[in-house]
Amino acid sequence: MTLLALALGLGIVCFLIWWLLIETEGVYLGRRVVIALYDLVAHRYDRIKQFDEYADHVLVSQALTAAIAPKTDPLILDVATGTGRVPLLMASSAGFHGHVVGMDASRRMLSVARAKRIAQGFDSFITLLRGDASQLPFPAEHFDVVTCLEALEFMPDQAVALAEMARVLKRGGILLTTIRIDTRWMPDRTWKESKMREVLTALGLRDIHFAIWQEDYSQVWARKPM
Ligand SMILES: C[S@@+](CC[C@H](N)C(=O)[O-])C[C@H]1O[C@@H](n2cnc3c(N)ncnc32)[C@H](O)[C@@H]1O
Repeated sequence: MTLLALALGLGIVCFLIWWLLIETEGVYLGRRVVIALYDLVAHRYDRIKQFDEYADHVLVSQALTAAIAPKTDPLILDVATGTGRVPLLMASSAGFHGHVVGMDASRRMLSVARAKRIAQGFDSFITLLRGDASQLPFPAEHFDVVTCLEALEFMPDQAVALAEMARVLKRGGILLTTIRIDTRWMPDRTWKESKMREVLTALGLRDIHFAIWQEDYSQVWARKPM
């Protein structure tokens, strides 16, 4: 009986550790834990994620290029840029003459992004800086495009981060973000489409629509009216 109780207790503790640190990436333990975990896995992040480069080109860089056409020199902000996925995708797009600012709170994710930027020769197209999504260090109406992929659910206050993104977006500018599809494992953190639509509408964004993207995430598109 005692052994069974011990095994059960151990099982529960292991499940809690897995759920708090692996499945939900520290989000219920606070911002510092989230960032510390990203610092910890930064050098393995790309290997873990195994991005589908072709799908990213079609569904992120080509889709963004089409959304802002005919403008070919946009100023783009990628919030929670991680290892530089969006900046590198945009910089390697044919006919791209703009500039991408990638911002992230994790020092080590940014250092991986910096190494990739140098290796791929995109220094003049990309600026990388450390900062928090809840307080973007930019003036209002500064960017033609703001992106934030696979990151909102890890932030302490998603509505505040989205308000900041809407603030720094120019009139007529495009917001591209994501919502996690499986909402079972992250109660209160993952939003349904209706909640995202409600928050973006309250921020004054329009043309809100959702697009199928990956197994785990849908894309959320919106425009700031002129
Ligand atoms: C799952 S990764 C996504 C990275 C990148 N957007 C991509 O699609 O590969 C989440 C990123 O969000 C960053 N992050 C989490 N909370 C943040 C915050 N409050 N401010 C800025 N970055 C944050 C993490 O450091 C991490 O790099």
